[in-house]
Amino acid sequence: MTEPLPVCYLNGAYTPLHEARISPLDRGFLFADSVYEVVPAFGGRMFRFREHFDRLARSLQAIGLASPHTHQQWQTILEELIRRNEAAQDIYLYVQVTRGMEFGRSHPFPAQSTPSIFAMASPLPLQSEELRTRGWAAITVEDFRWGRCDVKTTALLANVLMKQRAREAGVQEAIVVRDDEVLEGSSMNIFVVAGGQISTPPSDHRILPGITREVVLELARDATPVAARRITLDELRTADEVWLSSSTYNVVAVTTIDGRPVGDGKPGPLLGRMHRAFATLQAQAT
Ligand code: PDD
Repeated sequence: MTEPLPVCYLNGAYTPLHEARISPLDRGFLFADSVYEVVPAFGGRMFRFREHFDRLARSLQAIGLASPHTHQQWQTILEELIRRNEAAQDIYLYVQVTRGMEFGRSHPFPAQSTPSIFAMASPLPLQSEELRTRGWAAITVEDFRWGRCDVKTTALLANVLMKQRAREAGVQEAIVVRDDEVLEGSSMNIFVVAGGQISTPPSDHRILPGITREVVLELARDATPVAARRITLDELRTADEVWLSSSTYNVVAVTTIDGRPVGDGKPGPLLGRMHRAFATLQAQAT
């Protein structure tokens, strides 16, 4: 884990993160009645800003909460957060909007409440050179999340328990499987490479429509056949390469699943190509 940068944004004010306070009656705390985004920024510039805030707007709409800000307003708030933290390194911005607080605890939406808005900045997590070279290890877990995994809500307890299971197994990620179908990682999307074709599960209510997933599909399309389709557990186990993607880790190789090697047990050649394409794209964006 990396430590967050010192200045955060809370309900209209920039404040030291150590001093930021929110009511225990906030519905984000009581009910996880809240949605969030994680946006990477390279060299001080946000990457795929519009896509992230389009997704935030969809998440807010899905939980019946009006967008508190336009894209332009979000951009101004976050650029100022980057500036106040003098964040020159590669970071990610965490943004959360809750339904706010009311006096008491009642399941239905309050008649009136003001959303709570919080944002902070953190350096992107570091990966050791050794782990990068070796690739990640993963376990598979049966899905026990709710039915709207396409909404980026902070109700992440199932994901937390899955990641902890991975941690306790001494591996980096848990791959979520439902009825023999591979869906995604506990906090990342998944890709399977077999016979030169890249496949990823289709975007529906069972996975988060990852922004990095879209970038990978875009970049792959130029050189390789790609498909968004159902992937079975057996296909995962017999793949040549398996990748995970997220805004915080970009694209990483999975080289061991449930203790068995993926392909020859090393990060594959198509991933190397993807990393180079990503680096070029990010350099252009900054
Ligand atoms: N996680 N699937 C899940 C369940 C996720 O939580 C995430 C992101 C992704 C990848 O989405 P994107 O490429 O837009 O980051 C897929 C973030 C990083 C998190 O919760 O920290």
